[in-house]
Amino acid sequence: MAKPTKKKTENETPEEEVLFVSLRAKEWEEFFGQENIKKALQIAISAAKKRKEPIEHILLYGPPGLGKTTISHLIAKEMEVNIKVTSGPAIERAGDLASILTNLEKGDILFIDEVHRLNKVVEETLYPAMEDYALDIVIGKGPSARTLRLDLPQFTIVGATTRIGLLSAPLRDRFGVVHRLNFYSPKELEEIIKRGAQKLKTAIDRDSISEISIRARGTPRIALKLLKRVRDFAQVHGEGKITKDLTDKALSLLEVDSLGLDNNDIRYLKALIEKHGGGPVGIETMASTISEDISTIEDVIEPYLMQLGFIKRSPRGRVATKFAYQHFGLPFEDTSSKSQQKLL
Ligand SMILES: Nc1ncnc2c1ncn2[C@@H]1O[C@H](COP(=O)(O)OP(=O)(O)O)[C@@H](O)[C@H]1O
Ligand SMILES: [Mg+2]
Repeated sequence: MAKPTKKKTENETPEEEVLFVSLRAKEWEEFFGQENIKKALQIAISAAKKRKEPIEHILLYGPPGLGKTTISHLIAKEMEVNIKVTSGPAIERAGDLASILTNLEKGDILFIDEVHRLNKVVEETLYPAMEDYALDIVIGKGPSARTLRLDLPQFTIVGATTRIGLLSAPLRDRFGVVHRLNFYSPKELEEIIKRGAQKLKTAIDRDSISEISIRARGTPRIALKLLKRVRDFAQVHGEGKITKDLTDKALSLLEVDSLGLDNNDIRYLKALIEKHGGGPVGIETMASTISEDISTIEDVIEPYLMQLGFIKRSPRGRVATKFAYQHFGLPFEDTSSKSQQKLL
């Protein structure tokens, strides 16, 4: 099987992987925020346990770093079942899928990350597997070919995607439960940072926790990454305890601005404002202006800028709002009554 390929901005260095495994929420009590999803899942889990059945197939979607992988592990833990982890691009052939599925035990969870990247043949093999716990295998070729139906143990698929729009309708419809993960509030991120600092056995003051929470782009993974960087900085330049002064210095070295916008976000906004007059501009043009892939722009950069209200999508392309101009201290002229109309 091929290695799952990750998008550039999602790439974790080996050091980061170790960090996230050690900091990963291992209990629901350590998983903060997303209260509605948590409640809904906990009800589904306890109902399934009472019925002694596997839970329905679950689809989790939302930007990277919001907890999709973590939730899938928490579900498996609470269901007391095994979890097998794979990803859309890693399952190359129907045969790969068949061998994964036939090796599952009753109730097991198969976590498929980047489920929108399954290829068509694999996806079609998955339909009867999800619906009837069966695999249709074609044996032979030509007129003598016949289909053999192979029964599978009852299992649950947890699919994760950053791009629900790229999922085909038949696949999406086969997930009984669909949850969208939202960006976290600074308050929720504070809890995550506090817990992370405890796990790292690092002292941190309240102001630093709050500063990191504001600059974490609404994303637990970024909050934990910043915490780790600030801790390193405090060890080298201070006594080890994380103070506000050290936090500010470390964050400015990391080029994370007051709202948590990083280099990529800023390059994107500046290109939109300075090179394209604030838009509207098509995604392809934006991608070539900042030499970034379209999928990184759509999955990673734009969701948070939209959440901040810095950009809008219109039928003619992306438009920067006055908040984006204000953030850079640039004058905003409302020349966009044409494009504003298009937005309606
Ligand atoms: N709600 C949360 N509470 C605590 N930690 C979280 C939460 N969501 C994510 N994390 C942490 O953030 C990191 C990234 O989460 P992950 O599940 O890998 O995100 P995704 O799969 O959506 O990209 C992990 O270390 C995880 O434990
Ligand atoms: Mg993940």
